[in-house]
Amino acid sequence: MLKFLPLAVVVWLVVAWFELNMLMRWMLSSVVLVYAFLLALPPKKLTEKTFGQNIKFKLPILLIIAGILWFLGGKFGFPIWWQIEFVAFALVALAFFMLLDIKTLKPEKSTFSWVFRLLTTYALASGLFIVITAQLPQFDPQVEVDKLNRPPVKLEGLAGPEVIAAGREVFENNKCFNCHKVFWEGNSDRGPNLGTRQIGLYSEDYIRGQITNPRADQSPGFDDKKSKKAMPTYYEEDLSEDEIDAVVAYLKTLRDPTHMPVEGKFGSQWTWWDDPKIIAEGKVIFEGFGKQTEGLNCAVCHGKEGIPIMTGAMDFRKADNPDTNKMPDHMPGVLMKDWPDALWYKRVTRGIDATPMAPWGMLFPHLYLWKAEAYARTFHDPLDKRTEKRPIPPVPTKEEIEKWKTDGLFMDPLL
Ligand code: HEC
Ligand code: HEC
Repeated sequence: MLKFLPLAVVVWLVVAWFELNMLMRWMLSSVVLVYAFLLALPPKKLTEKTFGQNIKFKLPILLIIAGILWFLGGKFGFPIWWQIEFVAFALVALAFFMLLDIKTLKPEKSTFSWVFRLLTTYALASGLFIVITAQLPQFDPQVEVDKLNRPPVKLEGLAGPEVIAAGREVFENNKCFNCHKVFWEGNSDRGPNLGTRQIGLYSEDYIRGQITNPRADQSPGFDDKKSKKAMPTYYEEDLSEDEIDAVVAYLKTLRDPTHMPVEGKFGSQWTWWDDPKIIAEGKVIFEGFGKQTEGLNCAVCHGKEGIPIMTGAMDFRKADNPDTNKMPDHMPGVLMKDWPDALWYKRVTRGIDATPMAPWGMLFPHLYLWKAEAYARTFHDPLDKRTEKRPIPPVPTKEEIEKWKTDGLFMDPLL
């Protein structure tokens, strides 16, 4: 064993010479030492293993490793196919180690028989390969050529829904789905889920800017080194003016009238209810100083300190206030502290019939109304007294999204 120590030192130095990091040095040197240790063990009597003995330890160990891989894959948000692939790799390792311990073959009796065996094995393997791959989706050059030759999106003469549909196509064809989910659709969470983030609440200029000059503004929670550089910078050149217009029109539709926007990277997300920056912006709007919300001042009726100035206006300090009873869809018995996001949104955008609480959503961008709501809540639920954040709502399903439209939950799709 000691004989190998100089070798380990040499490996250490060579690795150091190549300027690999400390971890690599330790790893490579320890591989040498483990090898040395194994070689130094007294030789075991070699016996053939039966199939049962062969898999006795390997199979349970593999099952545990496969389980861990599956679990970790899921935890880190890999798509299901990747998880299956990880487990498949573990199975390949099992096959490999089983092969190492398999019984030795008997010597061939004649040249003919080994040639015959070799050829039939080759034929069998090739046959299997052809049969399996023939079942998989085939590459069709024509389809790819057609994609390249597709006429560029031209907006002339297209009306609203067609522009949005064209924008959706631009989104699909330019691999945006490779990094962005849109609610439940998409393959990875490298970039923000543009649905639950509700990118449609933002102005067209902001969205356009994020596509043509993505380094100017980082999406909240995506300011780590890797994410900062992830969003490609070539779209300004690759996409025509019309294509950008269309994709912006599509992104403008991504909103959720039933939940506060969700920010941050999958795994460490938060809602606007608990976002100090949003709440600070909401205060400015609530008190009537919002630049983009000139003429909106919640405080003139609800009071700067939350003490209503107008009689009858909701007192946000009282967590036990019920919903108004002046609306046909009112929710009796539900206290303000438990109001669903959808109720806040509906009352503030749609207003309360025959009261000074006007349908603000007809006049002002909903982006700012959500922020004012996040602030209004702090009168009975101050930010610094919260022991935990509000849970991240489940991603809405396709059926739910359809229902928002049929239920007319948006006042004006573009506000
Ligand atoms: C290689 C991964 C990748 C691809 C492909 C990609 N994005 Fe992004 N995108 C990101 C990341 C990461 C961020 C967050 C960091 C940032 O703001 O730059 C982001 C940010 C954005 C934002 C800003 C979101 C916000 O919260 O302000 C928009 C809008 C956007 N992408 C649109 C698109 C569109 C449209 C496409 C396709 C034309 C696309 N992205 C393709 C990774 C990608
Ligand atoms: C012109 C006065 C006025 C302004 C401005 C105003 N409100 Fe109100 N608001 C009222 C009155 C009055 C009520 C009570 C209506 C009722 O139930 O009779 C009310 C009720 C509410 C309620 C309770 C809804 C319910 O279900 O009972 C919420 C939430 C609310 N306002 C939020 C806001 C926010 C946020 C703003 C600013 C974006 C705002 N209000 C601006 C007058 C106003």
